[in-house]
Amino acid sequence: MVKVTVCGAAGGIGQPLSLLLKQSELITHLSLFDIVNTPGVAADLSHINTKSKVTGYVGTAQLEEAIKDSAVVVIPAGVPRKPGMTRDDLFNINGGIVRDLAIAAAKFSPKAFICVISNPVNSTVPIVTEVFKQFGVYDPRKIFGVTTLDIVRASTFVSELIGAEASQLQVPVVGGHSGVTIIPLLSQVVGTSALSEDQIAKVTHRIQFGGDEVVQAKNGAGSATLSMAFAGARFTLNILEAAIRGTSGVVECTYVHLDADKEGAKAIKSVVGDDIEYFSVPVELGINGVQKIKPLGNLSEYEQKLLSEATAELKGNIVKGASFITEGS
Ligand code: NAI
Repeated sequence: MVKVTVCGAAGGIGQPLSLLLKQSELITHLSLFDIVNTPGVAADLSHINTKSKVTGYVGTAQLEEAIKDSAVVVIPAGVPRKPGMTRDDLFNINGGIVRDLAIAAAKFSPKAFICVISNPVNSTVPIVTEVFKQFGVYDPRKIFGVTTLDIVRASTFVSELIGAEASQLQVPVVGGHSGVTIIPLLSQVVGTSALSEDQIAKVTHRIQFGGDEVVQAKNGAGSATLSMAFAGARFTLNILEAAIRGTSGVVECTYVHLDADKEGAKAIKSVVGDDIEYFSVPVELGINGVQKIKPLGNLSEYEQKLLSEATAELKGNIVKGASFITEGS
């Protein structure tokens, strides 16, 4: 019995994400929660002849039933950006939404892996952490900020430059999930040594602000949904691959509390500073979630500079999220 609950399942990300998850043989029950429209989405998906049973729940009165006994809770609930907005501009509304969903998860699915897509991820992940602490069910190995879209974008954009096959190109992207906190480690990608400093700077900026290209092209109709659904499904299925099927060597960059692997975090903190609590890092996934935080590897001088530009903003985002719960909201 492997139940996966999508919170925000009727939304721009939630619908295609649920469709992709419906194709997985690893999921036996796909539970769809939203405050609107889930009965229709669930009825539609339930006609697809794959393994999982699909159920839909609408409104907070049905949240307990929707979320209870989940193996994974994926959260793409909340409002997306419009042109001119930063992810931080979404904090007040999405912070409250993520808090309420985290409370339900802590009460009814305390052992689930929680995959947070709702922005600002740099702050919404600390919100989930503090809620789980308040309920006494906190395990840092099980709470993830989904930054996979940054990695997916990086593979696409860099492959266009160096002529590699995008799906085969692994580009580590670390740090956080907004603007300058996104740090692509291009020096570690085979084939990038021929790029000029200017090309590196331009493609780095494109990875950091790639979300804006979509926000502007959609012109007020939201942010990335289809590419995010692809990335969110990849991340969720990788969690299941490692945790349920027991496959070893599954590695994804994801935004976690560094307590998730204190030993592995030592190498990270020696590079990024002792006072950084959360960071997107390469993580080897296992049956309990984070099995090992892997080192960042060698950083070029340019990447060191990106890192120093990222940390102040990231620390501020983390404090903002955590204090939303600890100091009341
Ligand atoms: P959307 O507006 O299309 O869908 C959001 C859904 O959440 C709606 O169906 C809405 O009814 C639902 N919702 C609102 N309050 C809820 C609650 N309390 N409980 C359950 N569901 C609730 O937005 P979209 O485009 O799907 O984006 C969702 C979130 O994902 C946004 O915060 C956006 O910024 C974020 N995002 C994150 C990315 C990442 O890389 N982590 C990439 C793209 C978007």
